Amino acid sequence: EGVILDRHSRFKTSDISAQLKMLDSTTGRFSVDDIAEFINLMQLYEGAMYEVSTKLEILDDEFQVRFSHDPIHHMERRLKSIKSIIGKLERRNLPISVESVRDNLFDVAGIRVICNYRDDVYSVSNYLSSQSDIQVLRVKDYIKNPKQNGYRSLHVIYAAPVFLSSGEHYMPVEVQFRTIAMDYWASLEHALRYKTDLPDAKLAEHSQTLLDCARSLQNIEVQMQNIHRDINGAPQTEDT
Ligand code: GTP
Ligand code: MG
Repeated sequence: EGVILDRHSRFKTSDISAQLKMLDSTTGRFSVDDIAEFINLMQLYEGAMYEVSTKLEILDDEFQVRFSHDPIHHMERRLKSIKSIIGKLERRNLPISVESVRDNLFDVAGIRVICNYRDDVYSVSNYLSSQSDIQVLRVKDYIKNPKQNGYRSLHVIYAAPVFLSSGEHYMPVEVQFRTIAMDYWASLEHALRYKTDLPDAKLAEHSQTLLDCARSLQNIEVQMQNIHRDINGAPQTEDT
């Protein structure tokens, strides 16, 4: 099958401990206890990420069996690196501590769900959101309300339970649901954003073109969705 793509290698205590010690050699802010606590926290985020991606795989399999349709094209998942976690806390002028990560960062565990059609984005996310053992903490629907630059995706932050010997822990997982076309667009926009050596005029020109592309892709998606609905016997509508 191979529906899930891991964007990081599996959790390794030695890697996390080494990264923290390396950062600490310049700042000297972590005690041995802090490092142990950080590792426990990352382990919980990883567990929640696996719980939620398994739920998504099960939904995808069920759709395949019931409707002979795979709503999920593929998934990507990643744990934020220690370096990015600390970078984000610093950018926001937040304290650098385990409590601060727990209280302020909701995207340490992240899953991107790339769906075939826009209807799939909403059906998969609604089925996941209605499951009784997870909670929806926040929804940002950039499909109904695209960002100024043309970015579209549905972002949902879930709290999922992880069961350890110490008991039950609810951990946040950020899930980005999008179509193949939205993902195609976001990859290029992301690349443009990090290409800092372009002249301002070129950057502005490309940003405008990308905005046009976002609108064109949206139109193409509506047309293709309608064909797909017709093939599958669902009623046609102009938009979703
Ligand atoms: P940050 O996590 O600090 O970005 O703030 P937030 O949690 O309010 O962000 P939001 O939910 O709006 O977006 C979180 C993630 O969505 C980002 O880390 C990106 O992966 C993705 N994203 C958001 N906006 C854009 C965009 O304009 N372009 C691209 N390519 N990705 C975006
Ligand atoms: Mg975020």
